[in-house]
Amino acid sequence: MKTIQVKTESARYAVVCERGALSRLGGIVEKVRGCGEVFLLSSPRVWKFWGRAAARALRLPRERVVLFDDHEIAKRVSTVEGVCRKLTRARADRSALLVAMGGGVVGDVAGFAAACYLRGVRIVHVPTTLVAQVDSAIGGKTGVDLPEGKNLVGAFHQPAIVVADLTTLHTLPARQFRSGLYEVIKYGVIGDAELFRFLEHEMEKLLRLDTRSLEWVIERCARQKARIVSQDERESGLRQILNFGHTIGHALEALTGYKRFLHGEAVGWGMLGATQIAVEMKRLSERDANRFSSLVARCGQLPALPRVSSRALVRAIAGDKKSRHGRVGWVLPRSIGAAEIGVNVPDRLVAKVWRELPARYARTEN
Ligand SMILES: NC(=O)c1ccc[n+]([C@@H]2O[C@H](COP(=O)([O-])OP(=O)(O)OC[C@H]3O[C@@H](n4cnc5c(N)ncnc54)[C@H](O)[C@@H]3O)[C@@H](O)[C@H]2O)c1
Ligand SMILES: [Zn+2]
Repeated sequence: MKTIQVKTESARYAVVCERGALSRLGGIVEKVRGCGEVFLLSSPRVWKFWGRAAARALRLPRERVVLFDDHEIAKRVSTVEGVCRKLTRARADRSALLVAMGGGVVGDVAGFAAACYLRGVRIVHVPTTLVAQVDSAIGGKTGVDLPEGKNLVGAFHQPAIVVADLTTLHTLPARQFRSGLYEVIKYGVIGDAELFRFLEHEMEKLLRLDTRSLEWVIERCARQKARIVSQDERESGLRQILNFGHTIGHALEALTGYKRFLHGEAVGWGMLGATQIAVEMKRLSERDANRFSSLVARCGQLPALPRVSSRALVRAIAGDKKSRHGRVGWVLPRSIGAAEIGVNVPDRLVAKVWRELPARYARTEN
């Protein structure tokens, strides 16, 4: 069993990365359960594939299962209200332990419900997508979207344990899996040149869900995430590095009503944009930028960019919650494996890169 420790100011917990962990969920959860009852939170789709296995492992009656829509457009305050009301009706009290099984949307909604319900109950994350296993289930960020922007309402609420079973990825649609690979590439660029080289060698194997490559990559990313959030739980410094690609990425998601792009795909475009900005500002070599865009192209085709004026894009970027006093701190790569946070980028440069991005990237793909 591979176990990674997270040690933040507010909590200490383990991230278990293991094939078949779901069948042992009962025993793993028992260790952190305390005296409360367990409630399983998931979505109908994830439940269809993995619900029976989880309920059997946890010996859960159906009354203690709460399902909710996990489309990105359902990641909103009203869904959290619905979850809390169902928990009330199922008589969950302050000693309850919630088990959130699903992708980032299930984790973010259930995590926020856990942070608010009865002013806070404990939660275990069982991530079932690549994004959730390498990123969203670790670190305690929870929250929901507003029509005005992504994740604008939320709370920090660390889990009691994270249990990632790699076999759950086998039912994930291929497009969802590829979307997670963009976040994996992100880890390589911002802090792990060896991971990046591994991805350059093994991308095709990963796309075939080769067990060994996948295990190595997920553990490597989870370790980096655990290390970063252990040093900076509240994103006052280092943790901001994880936002590489998210400045343009979040703006793209909001501008397209969360419908055109999967989260990782929007981040894929966002990283391409930020990389080009870094080249224009002479902070990154053309060679490293080309290595990066070639790897992104090998993940598959990104959905086309929307016809949005550069002015609208710049406005959407300023509306992202990461801007402070209207100033956006960009994360830009310095080289493969190192990035800088808090960089000031002039709006006219953002606009120039945005206008040129589709044609520039099309050249990489061919
Ligand atoms: N809290 C954080 O730190 C953090 C970090 C990264 C991303 N996020 C958030 O995570 C969300 C994206 O998460 P995601 O990429 O996991 O997508 P997702 O949660 O939207 O799930 C994608 C789809 O796959 C389905 N699914 C999930 N697991 C499955 C499985 N094993 N088999 C078959 N289908 C399965 C879901 O039902 C859903 O339809 C975004 O809202 C993003 O903002 C949060
Ligand atoms: Zn992300």
